[in-house]
Parts: sequence; C-alpha cells; structure tokens
Amino acid sequence: MADLIFTVLLLLLSILSPLVFFFFIFSITRNPSSTKKTPISYPVVGSIFAILKNKHRRVQWVSEILTSTPNLTFTLHRPFGYRQVFTANAANVQHILKSHFHNYPKGDAFRATLRDFLGDSIFNADGDNWKFLRQISSHQFNTKSLRRFVENVVDSELSDRLLPILRAAAGESVVLDLQDILQRFAFDNICKIAFGYDPAYLVPSLPETEFASVFDDSLRFVSERFNSNIPFIWKIKRALSIGSEKQLQITVGKVREFALQIVREKKQELKEKSSLESEDFLSKFLSSGHSDEGFVTDVVISFILAGRDTTSAALTWFFWLISNHPEVENEILKEITEINSEEQIYDEVKNMVYTHASLCESMRLYPPVPLSTKSALNDDVLPDGTPVKKGTRISYHPYAMGRVEEVWGEDWAEFRPERWLEWEDKWRDGFLADEEGSRRSIAAVQGGAGGGNYGTGLRGGSSLNRRLKA
Ligand code: HEM
Repeated sequence: MADLIFTVLLLLLSILSPLVFFFFIFSITRNPSSTKKTPISYPVVGSIFAILKNKHRRVQWVSEILTSTPNLTFTLHRPFGYRQVFTANAANVQHILKSHFHNYPKGDAFRATLRDFLGDSIFNADGDNWKFLRQISSHQFNTKSLRRFVENVVDSELSDRLLPILRAAAGESVVLDLQDILQRFAFDNICKIAFGYDPAYLVPSLPETEFASVFDDSLRFVSERFNSNIPFIWKIKRALSIGSEKQLQITVGKVREFALQIVREKKQELKEKSSLESEDFLSKFLSSGHSDEGFVTDVVISFILAGRDTTSAALTWFFWLISNHPEVENEILKEITEINSEEQIYDEVKNMVYTHASLCESMRLYPPVPLSTKSALNDDVLPDGTPVKKGTRISYHPYAMGRVEEVWGEDWAEFRPERWLEWEDKWRDGFLADEEGSRRSIAAVQGGAGGGNYGTGLRGGSSLNRRLKA
C-alpha cells in the first residue's frame, strides 16, 4: 500500500513539476516597453530580487531604468501584486499634477503611513480638507511675509550666525560638516519664520538638540514604512509595538510634545498681549481662530518638515557643486560684487540671475524632493498610453527628469548654470525641482524654489524667467 501511494505521488510530481515550471516561466512579466534595465518580475514575489539588490540606491536605480525606457515610464512589480508606476515623462507629470489632478490624490494608504507623524496637516490631506488647509496657509504665507522673512530672519541668521562660524573655521583651518551646519541654519530659520521661536541651533558650540534628532529619527522610521515591500508588515509591527514601530512611537511622542509646547507658549503670549505684534505664521494662525491644539501641532510639525530638509539639501548640494566648479564660483562672486548694495536685501537677491541659474542647475541634478507619490482614484490611461488601475501608486521622478538627454542634451550630466541662460527660444519642459501643479510648494509659489519672477532686466533674465515658469 505504501508503495502504491509513493508511486502515485511520484507520478503526480512528475506531471506537475513541468506545469509549475512553465507557469513560472510564462508568468515572468516584462513591461511592453521594457529595456535591459527594467527589472524582471516573477510570480508572487514580483521584482523583489532587483529591489533588494538596489535598496541602498533606490532613487538612482529607478532613475536609470526610467531614462532607459522610450516613454520615460515603467511599472515596478512589488511582492503580492502591489504595483507602482514611475514616470519622468513631462506629459504624464502634467496629467497627474495638473490636468487630472483630481484623480491623483495622495490616497488612503499614503495618509495612513504618515498619520502618526504628520496627523491631518496639509501634507497629509486630500480633497476638501486639503483645499481648506491650502487656502489658510497661502493666506498667511504671502509675498509680503516672505519678503519680511528674507529681510529680517534670514539676514540676521546669516550675518550673526552662519558667516561668523564659517569665518572662524576658515581662519583656524578647521574642517566643518557643512551639511550639519546648513541643517542647523535651515532649522533656526524655519522655526523663527513659522513660530517666532529661536531654537539657537546654529551657534558656535553646535549643541546637540534633542528635538532635531528625534525629528530625524521619526522621518527615518516613517521612510521605512514607505520603503517596505509588504506594507502590512509595518501595521503588524505597530499593533505589537515592536522594532522600528516602537521607536517611532517614542520619537513621534517627543516631537509632538515639543511642538505642543511651542503652541502653548504662543497661545499664552497672545493672551498676554493686547495687540498682535508677532508676525510669525503660528501667531497669525492662532489669532485667526484656529485654536485646536492637536490640529495646530500638526501644522507646526508639517512646516518644519517642509522648510528644513528641503532648503538644507538644496544648499548642501549647491555648495558641493560649486566647490568642484571654481569657474561657477567666480561668476557668482562677480555677480555679488556687482550688485547694488543700496537696495534692500530682498531686491538685491532678486537681481542675481546667474546665482539663481546656478541654484536651478543644482536642483536639476539634485532635487531636494527627488520623487513624490500619488494614488489613482479611478482607472485611467496616461498620455503615453500607460494604463493605471484604480488604487495604483504612481510616482513622478524629478531626479530622473533632470537627467533626460533629449531634454537637457548630451551634456546633461554636467553642472553648467549657463544652460539656463542660453535657451532663448527653446522650451524646456522636462524638469521640475518643485511640483508644478495645484499642489506645489507654498514657499516656491511665493518666489522661492524655481517658481519666482526673478531676473527681469538683466543679461538672460527674461529667458530665465520663461524657463522657470516652464
Ligand atoms: C528648496 C526648497 C524647497 C523645495 C525644493 C520644496 C519642494 C516642495 C515639493 C516638491 C512639495 C510637494 C510635496 C508633496 O508631494 O506633497 C512641497 C510642498 C510644500 N512646501 Fe515646499 N519646498 C521647499 C521649501 C519650502 C519652505 C521653506 C516652506 C515653508 C516654510 C515650504 C512649504 C511647503 C508646503 C506648506 C507644502 C505643501 C503644499 C500642499 O500640499 O499644498 N516649502 N514643497
């Protein structure tokens, strides 16, 4: 009897194994427009092997795949059928961010991933809630307040803190961690403008600030959620309060405690003062009737997130690039010595066309937000023909967009600010360091990253203007 069972099993196995083998082979998926760089997708596990192999260089890896495809778009197959469309195709990006904006919200999964950290703030809102938050934030964050921010806050942080530290280090030939210095610089600035609070993080002793470090840790743990190949695993870890999820609870608790303290102190200050003297965002927000502490705490945290790492990343790459390009540094120095020092600092900055072009060129190669993800509300087809199923995650990729040879030319890998001043007639539509649609950065809309009306009247100024608007 045992022999019979064994023989039947052997027979079954010999019939089934070729079937399994052929199923496996024929289920291996390739995109229709796949190239040698597009990862192979296997049944059940998707492209997990390629994902794991490149997990230390995700942004560059996806960029290499995107720029190798004819339509600058591909679908990444994650395990268990999760799909993510990536695109660096300008028409697709326009479609997602502008013409079909309503079909590409951040989505429930995105919001659930960030809620523990950002609550219901603007970064984590969709639909009517987002519209409401956008309206009140834009109202408070207008051109006038940005001008005051540059003239008062940034100027004093520069003259009283950043420059003395750099001068002292240069005088004593001390090596500085410029990335750390610029993060401190951005952190002080953003706290002062947004909350009228000075954390004094950029002072010569370079103190350890618990708030900044728990903020960084929280960001790291939340990124782990985003990068997780099987999203429900972090939910299980959170339910059991283990590993990185336990750490996240602790660090987010501290971040919220600190933000709440700022909110309470500001409320007290406003109670004690008869008139509104403070110009900061939080004061205006509170005095216009938004007093729910949980909600205002979310706003505080999201503004730190928005303003700190973006500006410091942009500046760090910028200084790294000009340290390797003395010819660009000389041009910038020339422009600085040529500007009219009688003018208000804000107007001086406005006229620095070459410096502005250099910042754009730096953010083309190293955009502070290298990719951003949305979710399809309904089935759709992108302008290049890529079908998108309801619920699919879709990411546009400014890092790859800055590397498309057809857009930037053969010398796309070169740091050459002049390219922004040369194209009198050409319309470069393949780039954005900042989102271009309805959801773009509030700071950029008011004249910051890549969005301002800079440069008119100077050499190349009007063409730079057109390009920035593109
Ligand atoms: C180099 C500097 C900056 C860059 C490159 C940048 C880039 C961006 C990008 C790409 C987004 C869209 C993110 C998303 O997918 O939701 C965004 C949103 C936003 N940014 Fe910035 N940003 C910068 C500086 C700032 C600063 C200094 C502030 C304010 C203090 C700020 C405030 C915001 C806000 C409030 C949003 C949310 C807009 C919305 O969802 O409607 N940003 N930024």
